[in-house]
Amino acid sequence: MGYKVVVCGATGNVGREMLNILAERQFPIDEITALASRRSLGTEVSFGDKTLKTKDLEQFDFTGWDIAFFAIGSDATKIHAPRAAKAGCIVIDNSSLYRYDADVPLVVPEVNPEAVDGYAKKNIIANPNCSTAQMVVALKPLHDRARIKRVVVSTYQSVSGTGKDAIDELWDQTKGMYVPGQEREPKVYTKQIAFNVIPHIDVFMDSGETKEEWKMVAETKKIVDPKIKVTATCVRVPVFVGHSEAVNIEFEEFLDEDEARDILRQAPGVLVVDKREDGGYVTPVECVADFATFVSRIRQDSTIENGLNIWVVSDNLRKGAALNAVQIAETLGARVLKKG
Ligand SMILES: NC(=O)c1ccc[n+]([C@@H]2O[C@H](COP(=O)([O-])OP(=O)(O)OC[C@H]3O[C@@H](n4cnc5c(N)ncnc54)[C@H](OP(=O)(O)O)[C@@H]3O)[C@@H](O)[C@H]2O)c1
Repeated sequence: MGYKVVVCGATGNVGREMLNILAERQFPIDEITALASRRSLGTEVSFGDKTLKTKDLEQFDFTGWDIAFFAIGSDATKIHAPRAAKAGCIVIDNSSLYRYDADVPLVVPEVNPEAVDGYAKKNIIANPNCSTAQMVVALKPLHDRARIKRVVVSTYQSVSGTGKDAIDELWDQTKGMYVPGQEREPKVYTKQIAFNVIPHIDVFMDSGETKEEWKMVAETKKIVDPKIKVTATCVRVPVFVGHSEAVNIEFEEFLDEDEARDILRQAPGVLVVDKREDGGYVTPVECVADFATFVSRIRQDSTIENGLNIWVVSDNLRKGAALNAVQIAETLGARVLKKG
């Protein structure tokens, strides 16, 4: 016996990837339904070799459904997730709405799988921000060995992290640079994204950091260890899919780069590609449609006592959103629900 599954936001980047991953991983499903806004009523989306017709979320009754994957943004989630949860359907949410709620587990299954057990307080489990998810997969096994004190991270985040309109903006702006009369002004972003980089993701906070930077700090503490200090600079780059991160880590104990490489080779969800030669590292175009979080450029930071630098790359629509959400459902199934 499998699950009755709902995908909310099925016409979006994350929702479509969610349907792909549920099919690829053969998640045990008895019945599945695809929901989006009324605008998309009847829009066809793929689920394995089947096609689903999208229904209107607003009209949908969640009674009798087991799991709802939400990928619709915080405003619509605020209205519909509590409705689903109240009807007895467990919500796995991709928005930032519930991530910092003490009664909602924030889960990366390779890191804190046991946290799913706390789902019942609100019937909701939160999926972390894309840039946090891939970073903590790499940090956790190193933290277990040498205790991380501080992390300094700079991100290089692709436009698919913003949504489907941002992908169009990069595409149209890039074409517009070459075709006279087809130049495109920025609409989704505050500045030109084609052939440029923008050190601004999400809103500015009073501290001067952006909300995206704050999320990496707060979420790493909630998922891995509240004692870890994190400082982040989050940058949008003209890449369609795949986030990259340059991560500097300071440990309590010394960790040799060769031992770190071995630890990461054994770590769940991580693939080490680290040859000190031309091309011996992973770039975002190579991570697309892959399940792994890739770690390259593992090297000692000799400017501090116990320091290491790593380069972390992953498909943000997968580990950063859809894959992690499906893994949460798998973990919940194995630990709690025990169907399938
Ligand atoms: N992209 C990432 O890397 C990433 C990573 C982590 C988390 N997230 C989060 O995942 C969510 C979705 O992101 P995305 O990149 O997939 O965005 P997207 O491509 O813009 O898609 C948004 C989806 O939400 C639906 N939607 C919007 N408002 C709705 C409403 N009022 N009622 C019902 N459906 C509604 C849209 O339906 P229509 O097509 O009908 O408008 C569409 O299916 C966001 O909360 C985002 O923060 C994204």
